[in-house]
Amino acid sequence: MTLRIAADADELDHDGAELFLRIAKDSVSTRDRFAVAISGGSTPRGMHHLLALEPRISDMPWAETHVFWVDERLMPYDHPDSNYGSARDDFLSRVPIPDANVNPMPVNLEPHAGAAAYGQCLAEFFNHPSIPIFDLIVLGLGPDGHTASLFPGSAPDPSGEEPWVISVTGGNPNVTRLTMNYNVLNRARHVGMLVSGAGKADIVRRIHSKEPPLLPAHYVVPSSGPMIWLLDRAAAALLPEGVGHGTG
Ligand code: 6PG
Repeated sequence: MTLRIAADADELDHDGAELFLRIAKDSVSTRDRFAVAISGGSTPRGMHHLLALEPRISDMPWAETHVFWVDERLMPYDHPDSNYGSARDDFLSRVPIPDANVNPMPVNLEPHAGAAAYGQCLAEFFNHPSIPIFDLIVLGLGPDGHTASLFPGSAPDPSGEEPWVISVTGGNPNVTRLTMNYNVLNRARHVGMLVSGAGKADIVRRIHSKEPPLLPAHYVVPSSGPMIWLLDRAAAALLPEGVGHGTG
């Protein structure tokens, strides 16, 4: 695990954009493509805006970048709460990424059918029957310990054989959603957890101290890559003194 504490939310946006760019370039140079899954919510929006601005817009290997969603609220893409709609407006419509590389979760199907369809989309892209391996998955953290749309009360199946994508109802907004499951999150080469603001300080402390009860964010423990926590000072305020170092 690495943990970096930014002075404020602006510096956190910058740290997130740098991480995204660095992993994109490394992935393209080693595997000729960059497969990333992004989350919704407010925290990643500043990072997304920065990716669409110089110098990063010119530095990013957009033609080799393939964007997927960690989770989606089942509402029209033009609704202000749509995760795809926000990312489209914040950066994807402003950068030279091929349309075919953008893979939103379906919102017009019955929830179970939508989850199965997105699982099939992942299987086709990764061209493999085993669990997809993303180069980067960017997550956010809710004050109740949820991440993605995996809410308290859920936990990974110890067999790891749960569906890759499931439908659930909950969160804020409290709607039906599709979400990647723990097995997919935990196979990523890098997982970035972006957390901002004093309202998240207590849950950051609880997740880091592994204080019971175990919550969804406790279960995100990538099996073969680093978990990279990017916090701002307000979100890190209740961590023990001395915690926090660079992500290299
Ligand atoms: C979604 C999410 C969710 C989000 C957290 C943090 O609801 O779409 O992906 O897991 O990342 O709730 O949200 P904020 O960044 O808005 O605090």
